[in-house]
Amino acid sequence: MSPLNIGVVGTGIFARDGHLPVFQDHPDQFKVVAAFNKTKAKAESFAEAAGIPSNKVYDSMDALIEDPEVDYVDALLPAQFNLEIVKKCIAAGKPVQIEKPIAANMEQARALVNATEATDIPVAISENWSFLDAITVAKQHLPRIGEVVGFQHNSTGPFVTHNKYMTTSWRQHPEHIGGFLSDGGVHQLALLTALVGEIESISALTSQVREASGADDIVFSTIKIRDSKCIGSFSYGSAFGATDKWIYLKIYGDNGSIMIELNNKAAPVVRVRVGSDAEHAGEEEVYNVAEEKSFGIYHEFDNFHHAVARKDKSLIISTPRAAFHHLACVAAFIKSSENHGDHVEVEQY
Ligand SMILES: NC(=O)c1ccc[n+]([C@@H]2O[C@H](COP(=O)([O-])OP(=O)(O)OC[C@H]3O[C@@H](n4cnc5c(N)ncnc54)[C@H](OP(=O)(O)O)[C@@H]3O)[C@@H](O)[C@H]2O)c1
Repeated sequence: MSPLNIGVVGTGIFARDGHLPVFQDHPDQFKVVAAFNKTKAKAESFAEAAGIPSNKVYDSMDALIEDPEVDYVDALLPAQFNLEIVKKCIAAGKPVQIEKPIAANMEQARALVNATEATDIPVAISENWSFLDAITVAKQHLPRIGEVVGFQHNSTGPFVTHNKYMTTSWRQHPEHIGGFLSDGGVHQLALLTALVGEIESISALTSQVREASGADDIVFSTIKIRDSKCIGSFSYGSAFGATDKWIYLKIYGDNGSIMIELNNKAAPVVRVRVGSDAEHAGEEEVYNVAEEKSFGIYHEFDNFHHAVARKDKSLIISTPRAAFHHLACVAAFIKSSENHGDHVEVEQY
């Protein structure tokens, strides 16, 4: 497999700590050849770490996009800039992978999906939780538990004051709907919907616990799955006082259940019980998942690499349409909460 040349736009924390290590671990697939950042000094230090020559540290996003040496763009920007860069890349015929959430609001998200539907240029959203090995393992056992009728999704934890991401001003003063609820919540929704399907309607209450969050930072909700009798609950927030970090998805079928535990992200556990009732319950089966160390990031770039190399956007797993749905769920949490928990339909593309 020959490496594709990547231009990185937005050389902040996650470009340096999340994406670059994956590119450097897989030189057969990825070569970072250019960088642009609003504050140029950050792009220069990123370039040094990535081995990018100084003449490829650009003064504008457009110059990087137009560089013929760049095969595709990896953009890590606050969500309100995603639509602009996707439009620029499509106009230049350049594939682009943007970070989640897909956009700052549903209008932008719709415009972004419209733009990507009208082109063959591959565009993907970096929702790395869509690529977890734990999902692959759980999917193998799903048919064994019969019809899926219910679920509990819980991702809660303590507030971390010295969180490197907390200090970013665009998170503290979010222009994107949901603030932290969409920042991290779309990952949870990617995991949930990959296993139980699209969400039809939501009843939710949200609340702001921490001033530093800039917007509501916890949600408790009930959910109905589309075209299914499956119902469930979804709780999310890392704004609490001292408590365990507790991430799990339990899926109930009429012939058993599956529990996915992600408390230890390096070593998820999938537990399966098969049987139609208490009298016919099999022994618990425990599957320890060898989660890839980047927690889905390598798999997402591997997937995008194939789509770009084969010029086939249909290969993309983390599509703009899927990410539209995840942001639409967050929008529905907020709308429902504004209406005292009334059930609201999730906007469809
Ligand atoms: N998938 C995940 O698990 C995960 C984890 C963390 C972050 N992320 C995503 O990664 C992206 C970056 O997050 P981060 O944590 O790395 O934050 P960050 O360090 O603040 O990076 C944001 C970058 O955007 C740039 N930027 C800000 N305003 C801009 C503008 N008007 N025009 C062009 N560039 C602008 C910043 O440049 P300056 O430094 O010059 O302001 C900075 O390089 C976000 O989309 C975030 O959601 C994803």
